[in-house]
Amino acid sequence: MNTAVAFDIYGTLIDTQAVLTRLTDLIGEKAPAVSQLWRQKQLEYSFRRGLMGDYCDFSVCTRQALLFACRQLQANISDKAVEQAMQAYAELDAFADVPTGLAALQQQGRRLYAFSNGSRTAVEHLLKRAGIADYFTGVISVEDVRSFKPDPKVYQHLVNSCGLAANEVCLVSSNSFDILGAAHAGLRTAWLRRDSHSIFDPWDVQPDILLDDFNALANQLITNT
Ligand code: 2OP
Repeated sequence: MNTAVAFDIYGTLIDTQAVLTRLTDLIGEKAPAVSQLWRQKQLEYSFRRGLMGDYCDFSVCTRQALLFACRQLQANISDKAVEQAMQAYAELDAFADVPTGLAALQQQGRRLYAFSNGSRTAVEHLLKRAGIADYFTGVISVEDVRSFKPDPKVYQHLVNSCGLAANEVCLVSSNSFDILGAAHAGLRTAWLRRDSHSIFDPWDVQPDILLDDFNALANQLITNT
């Protein structure tokens, strides 16, 4: 099978909202608002840095976004609590449907890659903790090309790393910006709608596959690639 399936990590395989419980312990009732602004700002910082050509490890975007969210929402957080929240982010769990979904793809003989803004070290740690590292042929990080999604060069790096043509690689992501970036770079795309209320951006591009259930991916890939 001369194709590959690449998976976004944060929000697709790994549940970023799982940090909410820990954040609530650390900062109390403002945690839900802080957690939402934290994720939004983390991504905004990566977009800015990609455009500026000012690359840093994604964990720096994560830390600075947490500080912004707490200050903006006037949630007191100690230096120690910041470290505890960052530690929780480094130890997030996979969504419950991920192991069975990956196993079905492995049984089809597909080559699977993890593809993330996160550093290779951070992603490998997450995958190992989640017990899913063995499903992947490789971990591909944007750190190798010192930019962030949706810069076209990070998708080209993914394709080159797979040793395939762009349309032989399918990116699975719950993040529409990632789907649009991959489609712009010529990859096949599968949008995994983790939040049933989320809508896709009204651009002139649609994902090749729309999924509400990770376990439907194996069958959809048979019929769509
Ligand atoms: C990623 O894992 C941030 O979800 C994005 O690359």
